[in-house]
Amino acid sequence: MNDKQRVAHYAAQQVQNGMVVGLGTGSTANFFIEELARRQSEENLKFKVVSSSVVSANKAKQLGLALLGIEHIDGLDLYVDGADEVAPDLTLLKGRGYDLVREKLLAKAADSFLVLIDASKRVKRIGENFPIPIEVSPFAWRLVQRSVAAIGGHGNLRQTPNQDGLVVTSHGSLVLDVAFESNLDGKALNERLNAIPGIVEHGIFSGLTRAVFCGHDGKVDEQWA
Ligand code: 5RP
Repeated sequence: MNDKQRVAHYAAQQVQNGMVVGLGTGSTANFFIEELARRQSEENLKFKVVSSSVVSANKAKQLGLALLGIEHIDGLDLYVDGADEVAPDLTLLKGRGYDLVREKLLAKAADSFLVLIDASKRVKRIGENFPIPIEVSPFAWRLVQRSVAAIGGHGNLRQTPNQDGLVVTSHGSLVLDVAFESNLDGKALNERLNAIPGIVEHGIFSGLTRAVFCGHDGKVDEQWA
């Protein structure tokens, strides 16, 4: 079992009968979904799920989990997802995928947002390993690029892997991947980006995390906010 699997199994123990559980997106979230399905069939655990992406919804359906539409819920007990970077103050960078809008919506709406990582995701400062993904309305991208440059960010529209088109998110936005030369920390950057019109959503999750579970060297560390 690798660290991602281990931490996903550990987090699945947090799910209790009757809960509504938000499913994240990515390889760690997939391990969590599989473990939930095992607990449902082997331990008769009863719960419902809501998904942050079509990919996770399909997986949940295939495994026989009871799936609620995000438009039909008015809250959820737990949201469990991975992250690309985690800073010491539990600010996150997410969004290597294409589902930021739903992910942040669920993270904010959940009574408890648990983040599952391995040790490679820990950073001193958000943006250390990856650019910040910024979802923009297609007609707004140039003006957003300019506003972002004014706060020290430089980036371009994300292209498809074979470079023959632009990535479009599940929300219908384009993505600017932006590196910041300024020394603003994740929290400050979050506030600056929130104030720019034309940005639909961005990958910094500040003040949302309840706990980070980190799998490393065969064990799991918990860090609570
Ligand atoms: C998707 C995400 C993922 O949670 C993040 O990319 C981590 O993925 P993985 O668990 O595969 O390492 O933010 O938008």
